[in-house]
Amino acid sequence: MKIGFLTSGGDCQGLNAALRGVAKTLFGAVPYVEIYGIQDGYRGLIDCEWRKMEMHEFSGILREGGTILGTSRQPYKTIRDFEDSSNVDRLTTMVRNYHNECLDALVVLGGNGTHKTAYALSQYGINIVTLPKTIDNDIYGTDYSFGFDSAVAKATDVLDTLHSTAAAHGRIFVCELMGRKAGWVALYAGIAGGADVILLPEIPYTIDSVLEVINRRNQSGKNFSIIAVAEGAITHDMSQQPKKERKVGDISPGMEIVRALDERLDQDVRLVIPGHFQRGGDPTPTDRVFCSRLGAMAGELVLKRKFGYMVALQGLSIGAVPLSEVAGKLKTIPHDSEMLKQARLLGISLGE
Ligand code: F6P
Repeated sequence: MKIGFLTSGGDCQGLNAALRGVAKTLFGAVPYVEIYGIQDGYRGLIDCEWRKMEMHEFSGILREGGTILGTSRQPYKTIRDFEDSSNVDRLTTMVRNYHNECLDALVVLGGNGTHKTAYALSQYGINIVTLPKTIDNDIYGTDYSFGFDSAVAKATDVLDTLHSTAAAHGRIFVCELMGRKAGWVALYAGIAGGADVILLPEIPYTIDSVLEVINRRNQSGKNFSIIAVAEGAITHDMSQQPKKERKVGDISPGMEIVRALDERLDQDVRLVIPGHFQRGGDPTPTDRVFCSRLGAMAGELVLKRKFGYMVALQGLSIGAVPLSEVAGKLKTIPHDSEMLKQARLLGISLGE
């Protein structure tokens, strides 16, 4: 069997651990397997950039961040675009290159956009198994995606660290965390890092409710507050406008909040944006185990020739979900989520 591996979309911790998991499973198998590393995600499949890989190349990468294959964003909405000087669209080019190279299957590691393209390829007869990757944890069909635990650890570290300087100066810290459409990182890190307010894309906020928390804390003698805000958080007023008419501000939600608080408070307000720090560095032990388990399952599916599936965490088990059920859906925080209820019980404001 000749199997192509690719990692697509924004990177995250655990990509190498997952690649290693699939490679170990396949190389250890009875039928002879050749692995082809495709460079920079779907871009490499379009440009025929791949190379045969040996098992030793997957050694020593369990704990390494990034991806040994490189990655790139190839937006799903452009897969029907033509490449320069070609009259064949990108999707057709990928299907053609897969067949020309006589590949038997693709193992694809990616997030939501990647899964839409993977499903489109599978509808064109390409044998695919995918693994759910994103720090955002917003892939439908799996309880968690890999990279999430590591990003939460990084974000929590930032919030933990801010506490001492916030307390020393009696300041308000607004910490803007990743998550444009889903606020999982802000919710988990906010709880783990003891944030007083957590603002999420799923729950529009009012600045008055944030002020109320700060004032209450000041009155009780706690003269500092920590606000964890997801980069997709929106105000209640904005949520009343139809999505297409919402003005995307020239400043980020974190800056917006700092500006609004600065106007209303006689107290220092500071902004911290850890940004890509949340996606870099080593995967946590939990992510390493998770990636290895997902990798083993993905390898097993390939060996059984069970294609068109994403491997997924379902409760305590690793299972497989048809790509048709995953592609095009987003897993945001449900409004009736237990975690939201528990956050409120803990006295954390969600800005409502
Ligand atoms: O999807 C992962 C993610 O890190 C988001 O949380 C963030 O909004 C986005 O990618 C950043 O993208 P880029 O790396 O292209 O700046």
